[in-house]
Amino acid sequence: MISTEKIIAKLKSINGERSSLTKDECALILSDNSKELRELLFKKAYEVKLNYVGNKVYFRGLIEYSNICIKDCYYCGVRKSNKSSKRYQLSDEEVLKAAEWALENRFGSIIIQAGERTDRQFVFKIEKLVKEIKRKSDGKLSITLSLGEQTEEVYKRWFEAGAHRYLLRIETSNPKLYKKLHPQNHSFDNRLRSLYSLKQLGYQMGTGVMIGLPFQTTYDLVNDLYFFKEFDVDMIGMGPYLLHHDTPLAFEANEFKLDKDKQYFLSLKMIALSRIILGDVNIASTTALQAIKPMGREYGLLAGANVIMPNITEQKYRSYYKLYEDKPCLNENYDDCRNCLEKRITMIGEKIGYDEWGDSIHFRKRIIVK
Ligand code: 5AD
Ligand code: FES
Repeated sequence: MISTEKIIAKLKSINGERSSLTKDECALILSDNSKELRELLFKKAYEVKLNYVGNKVYFRGLIEYSNICIKDCYYCGVRKSNKSSKRYQLSDEEVLKAAEWALENRFGSIIIQAGERTDRQFVFKIEKLVKEIKRKSDGKLSITLSLGEQTEEVYKRWFEAGAHRYLLRIETSNPKLYKKLHPQNHSFDNRLRSLYSLKQLGYQMGTGVMIGLPFQTTYDLVNDLYFFKEFDVDMIGMGPYLLHHDTPLAFEANEFKLDKDKQYFLSLKMIALSRIILGDVNIASTTALQAIKPMGREYGLLAGANVIMPNITEQKYRSYYKLYEDKPCLNENYDDCRNCLEKRITMIGEKIGYDEWGDSIHFRKRIIVK
């Protein structure tokens, strides 16, 4: 039988090396409420992080390109059926200006995120923008895309245009839970296929889940960790599920009485466990963490994350890209964000990887082994 004492002893024996944990051990860590265990877990995850990826934080300037979306996920504030969401799409100039700002401020990397669209116009537009940013930055900016499920042909097009990382969250690795969170015509299998395609095409592939969803069990989260391992992912981005009142899941969320504090610690523990189990992947400390606690992202870094995605979208659009309520930094402009982030990060003893792409070390190793 495993017990808290045994887990504590096991965690104490981790010395900067990645370690496998059984499903039961992971489950106990996630469900235990003691501060002692939690702090030991974060400390050990931080040591593993230092050993595999160091104490440098990489910035990805986040451009929220558009909230127009063909999908209808039950949890998401910009789902197509939400008629109270005002829709926008940035102009090419606005995207290029944000990219230029990222370059000038030595971010090294941007991410273009938007609601899902698969029409030709959109596909070509993204291709053109990626090429243009690459050209204008002399290849210096690296580009990550987060634009949902696409055909292999589209992913290939965007890869050839110059994007080299792609984020597509599986949302949950449990197909039954996935079904509960999405309408009938959204397919778990297609999402998996998309992840396979991305990997096969040579992208650095990132995925992730939401934490503290209605109906989600501790073992669902444990299986998510195992999913990351088995899928051999290069990057992870995950965070707490947060309520949006104009969504169908808001009703269930109220019934389930989300406990934000619990979700917050659960999210930090998921980051820490991912770091301990996987070692050399890139892990983002997401904005959703900051939505619960103002210093949430910094604590994410201390629990094992090494990437932050500061929002560099022009301020006037920020409130429209609202996946959930309580989105932070709505009233800040780019420069405020940068200055305040720099202070916060150095305050916790981390460095910023200015001008660097900060590729996933795991990806590099994966490619060499091939
Ligand atoms: N709470 C937290 N995360 C959300 N996302 C969408 N809606 C929510 C929400 N209500 C996340 C999904 C998606 C990513 C872009 O944002 O995981 O993949
Ligand atoms: Fe489209 Fe969330 S449902 S981005």
